[in-house]
Amino acid sequence: MNIRIEKAIAEKFSCELLLLFAFESPEPLEGPTQNVDLTWKGFLSAIINQGDFKGELFENRLLHTQGAIPAKRVLLTGLGKKEEFDLEKWRGAAAKAGRFIRDSGIKQFSFQIKRLKDFQEEELAENFVTGLVLGLYQFNDFKTLEREKIKTVEEVILLGEADQEIQSIGEGARKGTIISDSVCIARNLVNGPGNQVTPTLLAEKAKQIAKDHSMEIQVMEVSEAAAMGMGAFTAVAQGSQEPGKFIVLEYNKGKGLDTIALVGKGITFDSGGISIKPSESMERMKDDMSGAAAVLLTLLAASRLQIPLHLVGIIPATENLPSGKAYKPGDVLKTLSGQTVEVISTDAEGRLILADALTYSLRYKPKAIIDLATLTGACVIALGDHVIGLLGNEESLQKKIEEASQKTGEKAWRLPLWDEYFDYMKSDVADFRNVGTRAAGTIIGGIFLSKFVEKTPWVHLDIAGPAFIEKERPYIPKGGTGVGVRLLVQLLRDWR
Ligand code: BES
Ligand code: MN
Ligand code: ZN
Repeated sequence: MNIRIEKAIAEKFSCELLLLFAFESPEPLEGPTQNVDLTWKGFLSAIINQGDFKGELFENRLLHTQGAIPAKRVLLTGLGKKEEFDLEKWRGAAAKAGRFIRDSGIKQFSFQIKRLKDFQEEELAENFVTGLVLGLYQFNDFKTLEREKIKTVEEVILLGEADQEIQSIGEGARKGTIISDSVCIARNLVNGPGNQVTPTLLAEKAKQIAKDHSMEIQVMEVSEAAAMGMGAFTAVAQGSQEPGKFIVLEYNKGKGLDTIALVGKGITFDSGGISIKPSESMERMKDDMSGAAAVLLTLLAASRLQIPLHLVGIIPATENLPSGKAYKPGDVLKTLSGQTVEVISTDAEGRLILADALTYSLRYKPKAIIDLATLTGACVIALGDHVIGLLGNEESLQKKIEEASQKTGEKAWRLPLWDEYFDYMKSDVADFRNVGTRAAGTIIGGIFLSKFVEKTPWVHLDIAGPAFIEKERPYIPKGGTGVGVRLLVQLLRDWR
């Protein structure tokens, strides 16, 4: 979809479809909607007064203009009650309008951006583009039948009246495009099947991103990781025929900027290994690299936005499969930190590969470490698929995440990391076990990881729930969501 900006006003602009928004009545029409209504001799007001359009949130009404204004059609979209309006609803409204337009088979539309409530043109443009692009996302890479029936919106023209407004709209649209494109690429990786999205493919993607955006990249083979002492990562990787990769991507290396380490779980398929999972819904476990996708695409967005931070993205990538070479319950692994772990379940593989990745991240002396992982089914039970589990060892970093969460609508909720739970992980033969009790499973996963970050401020985001959804939301189609990219980019943009 091509987005361009033009200096024009809604009631004078000729196009296939003009998009207009209205708050729920009795709120009066404002801005471009009001101007079109005046030019159209009160036609919109009449429709509203007759009760045919109420302005309820996401209500859509398509109108034919018959030459009353230069636009051929108008789509009137409801924003709901004005006092309840916020940017989350705005992103949703953009998506819902965009999908209505696409489903109607219309390929081009325009929309004049004008201050709304307390929101300025730039943030409205950014969030309009974000909601629109994310809402119009579709994953059709593997569909070969009836491809001619796939509908797409080809062009959006954002209109601005004054030069200053055009400038702001352009800036907002640019940022929204960068961020939402990154989320869509993350979704493609998550939706991509395990036989395509292998550790090798993740490494290739990372190399491509590094090359295009002058980042440093290092891809370690499993043998190199083993030589370095990553006994936990290599144990998980050893059961698979598909070569594991330990990927390290660096943006703004050596510029003396604050360092933030981003660590993403990159299990490209989680069968559970020898502790094999039930086959019911096992196909969903192709999403077990959602943390890796979020880290990779956050780095891409950060570099395209030129965020002034030194970022290190660390992605341990491997399958988790059973085989004659696979690691087993009872095995004792020596992690890169030197601590030993007794394997109780080979299905608690995420924390093992992350343990070595977290220890590795300490070499960069980061100001903060953030890991993202589809770590526990328990988190889905506790918080469902709307919410990221948020655990950490330091207050201010957790606060920052919560602020970014508030702004982006990627909800996160804290769980405690109290030491009492560590007792459940005591082992008779090693320093600790990789599994505690079924109860408090997410907290226990977090406690395990906390043993590998020393005193560095760290946050663990358990994205097992929101990484993949079964029912569409206003701007998130069902399937892989790319959760975490927007949250992290916001955090990094606001870093101080
Ligand atoms: N990738 C899974 C977690 C998961 C499960 C994510 C369901 C999304 C939906 C993870 O590797 C796993 O298998 N965790 C185990 C941990 C347990 C063995 C301590 C789990 O949650 O059952
Ligand atoms: Mn598992
Ligand atoms: Zn897993």
